[in-house]
Amino acid sequence: MKLTVKRSQVLIALLLCTLSNQWGYGQKKNDAETIEHRNQRMQWWTNDRFGMFIHFGLYSLAARGEWVKNIERMTNEQYQTYFNRFNPDKLAIREWMQHAKEAGMKYVVLTTKHHEGFCLFDSKYTDYKVTNTPYKKDIIAEYVAAAREAGLKVGFYYSLIDWHHPDFTIDWLHPQRPGNDSLYASLNRGKDMNRYRLYLYNQVQELLTNYGKIDILWLDMSYGEATGKGRKDWDSPHLVQMIRRLQPQIILNDRMELGQNEGGADFETPEQVGPDELTKYKGKYFETCQTFSGLWGYSRDENTWKNTRQLLDILISSVANGGNLILNVGPTGRGSFDPRALNALHAMGAWMNENSQSIYGCGSAPADFIAPPGTKLTYNKELHKLYIHLFEYPWTGTLAFQNFGGKVTYAQFLHDYSQLVISPHQPNDNKIKLILPKEKPAVEIPVIELTLK
Ligand code: GLC
Repeated sequence: MKLTVKRSQVLIALLLCTLSNQWGYGQKKNDAETIEHRNQRMQWWTNDRFGMFIHFGLYSLAARGEWVKNIERMTNEQYQTYFNRFNPDKLAIREWMQHAKEAGMKYVVLTTKHHEGFCLFDSKYTDYKVTNTPYKKDIIAEYVAAAREAGLKVGFYYSLIDWHHPDFTIDWLHPQRPGNDSLYASLNRGKDMNRYRLYLYNQVQELLTNYGKIDILWLDMSYGEATGKGRKDWDSPHLVQMIRRLQPQIILNDRMELGQNEGGADFETPEQVGPDELTKYKGKYFETCQTFSGLWGYSRDENTWKNTRQLLDILISSVANGGNLILNVGPTGRGSFDPRALNALHAMGAWMNENSQSIYGCGSAPADFIAPPGTKLTYNKELHKLYIHLFEYPWTGTLAFQNFGGKVTYAQFLHDYSQLVISPHQPNDNKIKLILPKEKPAVEIPVIELTLK
């Protein structure tokens, strides 16, 4: 058989070769990272435990959540009104960072582009960006500078899906989805996901080269290869390869459909799950992402806000299962945090101010320490300290620990370092008893610190 190679095929091959070198496709894959190296790379993240998510975009003006374009099936023209008015006059990113710090958060992840496709950064690959709105400035540049100045780790959220890009094909999850399946073909005529993928790679490359060291990349989202978009559309293995080449120390989430064992994700992202469900993730790297209320983008009329106890529960339960919590704020269209968010952050901060030793540097307790009823345990391996979070305050004024006999040298409350007397255990008795004040201290969830032998 005679092999004929057309000129156009050669050109395509050359183009692919150039792109692959630019993105590092052509390079030899690094030897798999050892577990020790990964643990080292993840160390600050495992230690810090608590971060702030920020969802900010054109949807902040609609004030009906970040999915508003989709839910209300808005056209690009209808949605353009938010672009034309985008001018957050109260935006003070330094203050955002200050709020995060005061709440006890150690890292921040901000949306650089959400599903709506609008970019908060000055991308050279699109006009649909903040620098073309009345606000004019690159919000991502401001954010990176403010976060670094505040000593917070810097994270970028980037949406893999895009409801504005002309090449992103319309599927069942798109705002322009048709009422009738037979219309997809005509709606998608001329659209090309390969061109979209190029756009996506170029933007991720911009984000990871133009803003210095980036600590976390939070990619979102995949929803099934057959009927939606996923790993194949993003070519996830190559995407990850490019990301790791550009930022070797970066910590990467799991929403590009590559498991932790495929050299892909660094952590899993259970979303809006209850505290009890987190036990399923024990032993894995995970970060639960949670909102104060139901939605991620500012939502004026949404009133199901979690109370302080619920927020603390999710934080403590994350750490008790060896994971992190990232808690979201959706700033208003003016760029400020609304009073409900400020109150919630303030309450978290008040508790963290007195009790953060049971969070930072902690993880799950060794299996032989069994939590007394109404409590949750965290453990600091380095310091050899066990923390008991009193979700129910014992009205008897004592707290019994079944199998702690001979293991504890000192007990105190964290909030005031007041000693808690350990009633002497009998020889051969595996039980100890702490004597607590009759009245619950004025702390939402008091924490007892046990120094272990
Ligand atoms: C979901 C939502 C998105 C949100 C994200 C945060 O994937 O689509 O709106 O940004 O979760 O975890």
